[in-house]
Amino acid sequence: MSKDLFEAARNAIGRCHAPYSQFPVGAALRGDDGRIHAGANIEVASFPEGWCAETTAIGHMIMAGGRRIEEVAVIAEKKVACTPCGGCRQRLAEFAGPDTKIHLCDMNGIVQTVTLGELLPYAFDSDALT
Ligand code: THU
Repeated sequence: MSKDLFEAARNAIGRCHAPYSQFPVGAALRGDDGRIHAGANIEVASFPEGWCAETTAIGHMIMAGGRRIEEVAVIAEKKVACTPCGGCRQRLAEFAGPDTKIHLCDMNGIVQTVTLGELLPYAFDSDALT
């Protein structure tokens, strides 16, 4: 059931700090223990130093003791079905698998569900470092 995940992502938008882009984003992850971790994008005046909602959510999951992502929801106030950026796809891949569902939302709910493998084929992963 992904409605609670969607609602966590939508609520997270309210915490965003996006004064420069005016493009609020929320994300929520469900860990393999069932807990939900949410995040919003956080921008800074030195533009490249800001970071995405998905990255905030991953940080919350890690600091709460989680390690595996089962499901993700992403929502942007101004774009239907906003997809995670390239960097966030790689960060998600660190803690999720190619079959992990990524729910792309609008303000009313999930509009499309894709897998991380579809978003990041031929991912660079830790196997490459062994
Ligand atoms: N952004 C996210 O938070 N997640 C995405 O998946 C795409 C982009 C943010 C970063 C920046 O604060 C704003 O959206 C505009 O790029």
